[in-house]
Amino acid sequence: MDVTTRIETVRERVDAARAAGKRIGFVPTMGALHAGHVSLMEAAGRRCEYVVVSIFVNPTQFGPNEDFDAYPRDITADRQICESAGVELVFAPGVGDMYPSRNLTWVTVESLTEGLCGRHRRGHFRGVTTVCNKLFNIVRPDAAFFGQKDAQQAIVVKRMVADTNLPLEVAICPTLREADGLAMSSRNVYLSTGERADALLLYRALTKAESMVRQGERNCSQLVSAMRAVMQSGAVVVEYISIVDTETLYDLAEIEDVALIAVAARVGKTRLIDNIVVDLNKPQGAI
Ligand code: PAF
Repeated sequence: MDVTTRIETVRERVDAARAAGKRIGFVPTMGALHAGHVSLMEAAGRRCEYVVVSIFVNPTQFGPNEDFDAYPRDITADRQICESAGVELVFAPGVGDMYPSRNLTWVTVESLTEGLCGRHRRGHFRGVTTVCNKLFNIVRPDAAFFGQKDAQQAIVVKRMVADTNLPLEVAICPTLREADGLAMSSRNVYLSTGERADALLLYRALTKAESMVRQGERNCSQLVSAMRAVMQSGAVVVEYISIVDTETLYDLAEIEDVALIAVAARVGKTRLIDNIVVDLNKPQGAI
């Protein structure tokens, strides 16, 4: 496995792999890798012969009062995880490599970024779509792999790729969960034992809503109230509970066939998000 901080080296390695007839799979990450990331690397490995992982804590997607400085970083552990997952190339640039001068060019996706996390993290998606656009132009993958855990991010990036005619497929893979249902996240390391128990209420609220829908409840206000009650049974500060269309991300009043049910909350100082897709035509929904 090669590890580089240099954009030129990425271009050389990827050019060589493509010249050898290999498909290039790409998993963009901010490091602090866990089994959820590994599942993305494995999905990339099943579809592509050459897998690139980027590890870059992107400052432009953090707000001034967010956890950019505290964000967990462990490049040694991350390298080992990538190596075991059969990754060919790790691109781990510094901030100066990705943003050599004050950034004047931004990629923004309208409408899809206005609700959910976009409402509570102003400027976040502008940072995400800008860095993904830069990474896609550096790596030039055939396919990039994102987790459904960050559903709005995946939908926004997919739209950015379509709207700017980037020649790659955006593949969205299922959320990986701990045995008790907690969605895997790099931020879970912030949780104390008590907070870890409260964090599970996000998933409990989602499964409560899903079972209500399966039993015939279609009214989103009723579903949101029931979810709020579950989340507020512990020390969870709800940021949002939303039931939205999976394409437009507009709020739904009633569930007709498919809906994204998404939550964000603070448990102690840690902000967590999770979601499920309910599809009345299938046992399990996906975006
Ligand atoms: O999901 C993440 O880890 C980040 O938002 C991403 C896609 C790597 C962009 O910095």
